[in-house]
Amino acid sequence: MERPDWAPDNIDLSRPSVARAYDYWLGGSHNFEVDREFARQAMAAVPDLRLVARANREFLHRAVRFMLDQGIRQFLDIGSGIPTVGNVHEIAERVDPDARVVYVDIDPVAVAHSEQILADRPNAVALLEDLRHPEAILDHPETRRLLDLDQPVGLLLVSVVHAIPDQDDPYGLVKRLWTALAPGSCVAISHVTTDSRPDEMGAGARLSGRTQTPVTARTRSEVAAFFTGLDLVEPGLVWSPLWRPESPADVGEHPERMSFYVGVGRRT
Ligand SMILES: C[S@@+](CC[C@H](N)C(=O)[O-])C[C@H]1O[C@@H](n2cnc3c(N)ncnc32)[C@H](O)[C@@H]1O
Repeated sequence: MERPDWAPDNIDLSRPSVARAYDYWLGGSHNFEVDREFARQAMAAVPDLRLVARANREFLHRAVRFMLDQGIRQFLDIGSGIPTVGNVHEIAERVDPDARVVYVDIDPVAVAHSEQILADRPNAVALLEDLRHPEAILDHPETRRLLDLDQPVGLLLVSVVHAIPDQDDPYGLVKRLWTALAPGSCVAISHVTTDSRPDEMGAGARLSGRTQTPVTARTRSEVAAFFTGLDLVEPGLVWSPLWRPESPADVGEHPERMSFYVGVGRRT
């Protein structure tokens, strides 16, 4: 297979990647046939998967705007994915050109493409790291250079916590991250569930077992438990389109079909 110049040498092309399938669902071009084949299979199980992906992405945008309104000017975006429309640094820089962003992803294509588009931006970096190593992320010299952990940080865990199986202690990992942040920091989490569409989303979650980052769907109370110790801001834990929608179009007709529980917690 011919390797495009944006593709790093060390990627495994024998298995689909969720980062690259998500890029495909959102209309991006940083994906391979192995990813597109997986993405189409998932769309056969969940025909409106593109809308589901978009509703999740739009929650990310609204959560970042909310945090900016709260005065937050530095962001740690873990599981940031392949850069696509409305990246965190673009939203943040519109409000404050000095805003700082650390992107983290486990996928080499996501990080390589992020590095490319951030090459002329001193206030944002992309790190190849794993959510399962919170200290490596927090103590990374680039994190320390860009983020002042004595000031509030916007921690973004959007569509990534479900990539951590129970045996890897997802609750402990999330807590280790936010307890390292200053009071006033906010944590955004979005998480896949099969609660509203058990058959379709269940089939989609099973298919993800073919990728390097299989999905563990969780129930509402299991997702709510990630916010233990944080103040859940209004409107609480809701379907992705219902979190502070900015227009009726954001809500759509069946928000529960978007199959992501989302919320923002504040560290006091
Ligand atoms: C569906 S994408 C979400 C992208 C972006 N956060 C959004 O919501 O638009 C999930 C991303 O999480 C990344 N990911 C999965 N497991 C991870 C881990 N253990 N550590 C860091 N990133 C991870 C994947 O590589 C992928 O890019």
